[in-house]
Amino acid sequence: MNILVTGGAGFIGSHTVVELIEAGYSPVIVDNLSNSDPSVLQGLKNILGKDIPFYQEDCNDYVKMNKVVQRHNIEGIIHFAAFKAVGESVAEPLKYYQNNIGSLLNVLNVMQANGIRNLVFSSSCTVYGQADVIPVTENTPKKKAESPYGNTKAIAEDILEDTVKAGLGFGIISLRYFNPVGAHPTAEIGELPIGVPNNLVPYITQTAAGVREKLTVFGNDYDTPDGSNIRDFIHVVDLAKAHVSALNLLQKHTDAPYYNVFNIGTGTGNTVLEVIDTFEKVNHLKLNYEIGPRRPGDVVKIYGDVEKAAMEMNWRAAKTLEESMKDAWRWQKKISNL
Ligand code: NAD
Ligand code: WQD
Repeated sequence: MNILVTGGAGFIGSHTVVELIEAGYSPVIVDNLSNSDPSVLQGLKNILGKDIPFYQEDCNDYVKMNKVVQRHNIEGIIHFAAFKAVGESVAEPLKYYQNNIGSLLNVLNVMQANGIRNLVFSSSCTVYGQADVIPVTENTPKKKAESPYGNTKAIAEDILEDTVKAGLGFGIISLRYFNPVGAHPTAEIGELPIGVPNNLVPYITQTAAGVREKLTVFGNDYDTPDGSNIRDFIHVVDLAKAHVSALNLLQKHTDAPYYNVFNIGTGTGNTVLEVIDTFEKVNHLKLNYEIGPRRPGDVVKIYGDVEKAAMEMNWRAAKTLEESMKDAWRWQKKISNL
């Protein structure tokens, strides 16, 4: 089954391409390389032993997308392509609405024109904001997004649900990812942030590699056991496998309109300081870090109830935080030539 993977040169998309091949699917990548590097394709080849069809195109381009879909007889799409920097989205909201919502609408139009039923969409736990009760289930009410980026995910989910409801022949799953970390255990692919990382784990690994002088922990006076924020850190390979499970599930629901959302996390929360501690322990090194002020907009604590994905998709995260921290460091050492 030929699957179009938009954003397939990115962090989560590239790991998903590997899992798709291992599950017997045939992925085709469309990525405009706006936040990724062509070296990812070589990494994929080193893991998979073959080239994956790749098109450097923009998902907002209807004509180009239509061509790729027809050329490869695409039967399903995983739509990763989006901008994801929360702070930048506050400064440049139109850029985010255009790319994240515009590309989704374009993908849906291309699907409809070509009779493609199945879509898996990258949503985010950001739609919950600071939930009143954790762990959050898929029924936890969504809160008004803190940023235009977060709002693109909330709006996208509404667009997808409405589109399915209209009975246009779609089967769609939104996966609400928690915090993806780690890298492929081969160290052939991993996270490649452009410029200063926004996210915790690449900041940790770059600090350990000497690319950054020190990590600042954004606050240790929260209402948590050690005062730092709590997140649900999921190994990117586990997250990638959830997309295979979602595609498999969509194929069981081909007779009627189908829309569903799933939390994709580990079901466990860890504090920022626990992550640092685990990184130091498993990799036998000391990290230069200091406690700084809170980062505006951070939720205090969140982790996911993941039983729905276990029950309905037969998927559960298997890797530990220790493995994530080892794999993240192995990858950083490779790209830093250490
Ligand atoms: P990423 O930036 O590594 O990957 C996204 C890829 O999409 C990049 O390779 C980029 O070049 C490409 N892209 C962006 N706009 C495009 C366009 N218009 N046309 C073609 N290609 C385009 O990000 P990621 O971490 O792999 O995230 C993948 C998806 O998961 C995104 O939708 C993101 O919002 C979502 N998500 C990420 C996280 C996270 O913490 N990484 C958490 C929740 C949800
Ligand atoms: C994790 C924790 C920081 C950097 C973001 C998006 C969210 C989702 C995932 C896409 C927080 C702390 C971080 C640093 C630190 N993305 N931290 N020092 O904020 O949970 O979520 O990515 O959908 O929408 O908002 O992830 O990795 O930025 O931060 O102390 O230098 O690490 O305060 O508690 P976050 P993150």
